Amino acid sequence: MRFVTFISGLCILLAVSCTRSDTGSSPKEVFIDSLINEMTLDEKIGQLTLFTSGWTITGPTLNENYRQDILNGRCGNLFNAHTVAYNRELQRIAVEETRLGIPLMFGYDVIHGHRTIFPIPLAESCSWDPDLVKKTAALSAKEAAASGLNWIFNPMVDIARDPRWGRIAEGSGEDPYLGSLYAQARVRGCQGNNLSDVFTLAACVKHFAAYGAPQAGRDYHTVNLSERTIREVYLPPYKAAVDAGVATVMTSFNEINGVPVTASEKYLKDILRGEWDFKGMVVTDYTAINELVLHGVAKDMKHAGELAFRAGVDMDMQGSVFNNHLADLVGEGIFREEDVDQAVKHVLSLKYDLGLFDDPYRYLDEAREEEVVCSDELMEHALVSARKSIVLLKNEPVKGNPLLPLNKNIKNITVIGPLGNNRVDVMGSWHAAGNTDKVITVEEGLRKKFPGASVRTAEGCDFTTHDKSGFPKAVALAKQADLVILAIGENYVQSGEAASRTSLDLPGVQQQLAEEIYKTGTPVIAVIFAGRPLTITWLDEHVPAILYAWQPGTRTGDALADILNGDYNPSAKLTVTFPRNVGQIPLFYSVKNTGRPIDPYDKFTSKYIDSPNEPLYPFGYGLSYTSFRYGEIKLDKDILLPGNSITVSVPVRNTGQYTGEEIVQLYIRDLVGSVTRPVKELKGFQKILLDPGEEKLVRFTITTDDLRFYDINMEYRAEPGEFRAYAGPDSRDGEFVTFTLDK
Ligand code: NOJ
Repeated sequence: MRFVTFISGLCILLAVSCTRSDTGSSPKEVFIDSLINEMTLDEKIGQLTLFTSGWTITGPTLNENYRQDILNGRCGNLFNAHTVAYNRELQRIAVEETRLGIPLMFGYDVIHGHRTIFPIPLAESCSWDPDLVKKTAALSAKEAAASGLNWIFNPMVDIARDPRWGRIAEGSGEDPYLGSLYAQARVRGCQGNNLSDVFTLAACVKHFAAYGAPQAGRDYHTVNLSERTIREVYLPPYKAAVDAGVATVMTSFNEINGVPVTASEKYLKDILRGEWDFKGMVVTDYTAINELVLHGVAKDMKHAGELAFRAGVDMDMQGSVFNNHLADLVGEGIFREEDVDQAVKHVLSLKYDLGLFDDPYRYLDEAREEEVVCSDELMEHALVSARKSIVLLKNEPVKGNPLLPLNKNIKNITVIGPLGNNRVDVMGSWHAAGNTDKVITVEEGLRKKFPGASVRTAEGCDFTTHDKSGFPKAVALAKQADLVILAIGENYVQSGEAASRTSLDLPGVQQQLAEEIYKTGTPVIAVIFAGRPLTITWLDEHVPAILYAWQPGTRTGDALADILNGDYNPSAKLTVTFPRNVGQIPLFYSVKNTGRPIDPYDKFTSKYIDSPNEPLYPFGYGLSYTSFRYGEIKLDKDILLPGNSITVSVPVRNTGQYTGEEIVQLYIRDLVGSVTRPVKELKGFQKILLDPGEEKLVRFTITTDDLRFYDINMEYRAEPGEFRAYAGPDSRDGEFVTFTLDK
């Protein structure tokens, strides 16, 4: 076994060098330098190569010969390979049949769970609960690590303000403050305190940078943004992930202002390594180096490899460009072999931290896989998370009482729509290895929670065709029922990667189905399953109750039934603005005032002539079964001295009949700046639990740091002057107080 001979030889060397104090190098550095000394240029380039195993792919499989490449030392890393049995055999080839026996690193897209599927990240962000999200990341990592993985392409922290873009589903919404908290939570949850722990994994923050701002919401499209907007809105979550110690960064497909990020020294060297001091490994997205040719910045693949390597890319995902051209680029003197060594160090250092040199099979334990995958712990958390992600958008009285929560003695429930009895689409676009068999459908959840009721279902229609042949049965069942639950929305490929849409209406004939069911007069609760905000204006105008379930994952039916019957009181709030129509997009809360803010009596102000400016539901919005009253907002002082803090407080009372959670939000507005500032910016929030009649005083601390922005000279600082602090239930409502930042 070559691994035993070579690596154990190195370990002896390491032990000897450890006892020497004259080198100043750490044992890890000695080990890696010694290993690199033994490697040929081709073997080094192999470590900079990541191939898909062919299990699941998100693009063309360029290299079907990866087993041979592993054997030849030309492929040091694989993705889309999972399960202990499968990965053990591949690891065996790398460790026991290659010249140096360097272990493979296995990556995978574990975006919101591996086999147990949690709500899509956009849904989970609506919990406004970074601790919950951290736990989701930790459990996802635990399950993925038990399935033989070492590295996951998570978190996706792209700020997205255009719901036409299907990948809005994978991120945490539109706000950089909230997005940064979630970025940190996911990294910390996934990586824990020790990467070599068999229950943790290396995270990969993506897609660096600004991938969530493609023109017209079309995936992979051009990004053109001002430097100020990039720095204030799009970069903070990636920076937060780097500050939290993320092990790897993925470059994005897109260009920014003319330069594709995969070839951008500005982004990969100056900002990432320079300003942010990132020490880990940089991997491209899938064939992003090759695409530099189509972008029009490289004349051929070799040139593309040169640009990407010079910019600071360490690892080529799936493109074979480094594999085919990097040796020539070194041979021609364009790069030095030491430059290649530097990139190899980033990769080997990660493998070292993961403990793969100690034991390449440490993540490959069948008994652990059996014990952890879809364990009770994971399944329970999937329920907790799903309940906290579902947003109540509307709950109006029917015959004097709000429709929700339902009377537990209800007798006849009919579930209508293509999502009522559906195990796949409710898992979302990145359910990759998700275990469909474990999914609880809406119908199953209702049967469990309403044992005394008759629960009937009718699909009515599908997601894509114009086939209305299922309508008559659906209408007939609706007429016989006490209540209809309309389970409608998107299927799992209608959001996610390469799933941009120009219409955000309910796909297929679901809108017509909803209208037919509404006409029956039976009370309707609309439950929308989707990976993005849909334009549900008609439903908002007609249907008394609306729940936005997003794609809740494995425990869909249980979570929904708990909410419908009142065992769980909804607490989630939107982290993305819901437009009324596609024409309003991009639409987000932190807009500028303009020189002509909307005035209904003045035509020549900033507005549409055929639509309100206001969204259907604002950022931060969400209802509970109880109601909350906000009292007078107060400041402890009205002058803030530089370096000091100021406290904003607001009493919040539960004025309804149920115990419930409220997410109290703090926004600020800088009234006069050297550059224009948004009308509101989120700077804090607290989630509080109140019993009926209970009141709590919620306090927020504002420091000078919270007031900083890029001024007219692109200096990041707070400017003296007047500010407003708003405290309220969402980005639209809430009173304000005014304070002054002193010179
Ligand atoms: C392309 C996607 O953009 C990225 O998010 C993913 O991690 C890779 N494919 C690997 O599957």
